Amino acid sequence: MDVIEIIRAKRDGGELTPEQIDWVIHAYTRGDVAEEQMSALAMAIFLRGMNRAEVARWTEAMLASGVRLDFSDLDRPTTDKHSTGGVGDKITLPLTPTVAACGAAVPQLSGRGLGHTGGTLDKLESIPGWQASLSTDEMRAVLSETGGVICAAGEGLAPADRKLYALRDVTGTVESIPLISASIMSKKLAEGTGALVLDVKAGSGAFMKDVASARELARTMVDIGTDHGVRTVALITDMSVPLGRQVGNALEVAESVEVLSGGGPADVVELTVALAREMLTAAGLTPGENGVKDPAEALRDGSALEAWKRLIRAQGGDPDAPLPQAAERRTVLAPTSGVLTRLDAYQVGLAAWRLGAGRARKEDAVSFGAGVTLHAKPGETVKAGEPLFTLHADEPERFERGADALEGAFDIDPDGVFEPGPIVIDRIA
Ligand code: URA
Repeated sequence: MDVIEIIRAKRDGGELTPEQIDWVIHAYTRGDVAEEQMSALAMAIFLRGMNRAEVARWTEAMLASGVRLDFSDLDRPTTDKHSTGGVGDKITLPLTPTVAACGAAVPQLSGRGLGHTGGTLDKLESIPGWQASLSTDEMRAVLSETGGVICAAGEGLAPADRKLYALRDVTGTVESIPLISASIMSKKLAEGTGALVLDVKAGSGAFMKDVASARELARTMVDIGTDHGVRTVALITDMSVPLGRQVGNALEVAESVEVLSGGGPADVVELTVALAREMLTAAGLTPGENGVKDPAEALRDGSALEAWKRLIRAQGGDPDAPLPQAAERRTVLAPTSGVLTRLDAYQVGLAAWRLGAGRARKEDAVSFGAGVTLHAKPGETVKAGEPLFTLHADEPERFERGADALEGAFDIDPDGVFEPGPIVIDRIA
């Protein structure tokens, strides 16, 4: 087969055959298709798109490039959640132990942050001793002992995606619905979960800036999961405003523990409970029936917090150890009084990233204590001269650029009427 023919076919708007897709993914993973050729093909796909059959085959070929885990012999059904990424999106942290406390097992392969959205592994690594890298046997042991495991995807899972995602990241070809869908779903199918709930974010802090694109991404991924025999549903959720009041690694762990202790910000609790109910239902366990605990109850009665502690200890962490704090803090004051009517998720994410919570290159280290604390969320009243944000950073020279990112990130209306939108915008099954 000839890669140039395949590039030309897609460049000219044609449909790739299953044989062409299998061949090109296989040859690229082996190193027989050059990076510049794959870049050209990725750009052709970005511009021309792929139909349902092509996306399904592309996913299948990436899945086949590595191993597929199998947890079907566990004594509980498996279910997982994947978020397309957002600002302050710490939901995996309270969600995994909550679902475990309600009787399902959650095998969760997570990533590190790149750009303005944080990564679950970076957050958890702020807990002293906690280990992200587990072998498949260790992963299985933690999962069966605690009902949940959150770890880094091993080298053997969807290696084609690992290579292709790194290439897309530097060739302006990330924001393609077929390529994002195949990338996410090849990894989630490889992880061996029986059910999957997708949290597809829409808004300034997300990949998908509008609800229509988020719906299209959700539909594409739900179809791929269903076609592979995994019960898959998607919630479209709001990412125009950051989730919760803390953005940054250790700051988000602390906020997650508040949620697991029965408190925490209302939006984080609402989304955790909504996703947990979906995950249990997709796994065949109806919350509140036949002895299956409702997730809201698990957060109230301490069982989710107990599950969290077991999960953290099983991966070497100390759930009771103090979390790292940034060396320095600065406060940004509200310039006027009124109702906060807008708080832009992307700009807050960018500020946290500039303060050191995120990384610019894969090999960079993150600062565990860095980030932004939000003293007000949209709909709340603020007073001129009172704190609006606290910025946390290890190096004082980061504060100016962090504060710059927040310029124009909010509106305060002296007689503002604020209409809150829903957090869960739609459900796609
Ligand atoms: N996350 C992924 O895993 N892949 C993408 O393509 C985009 C986001």
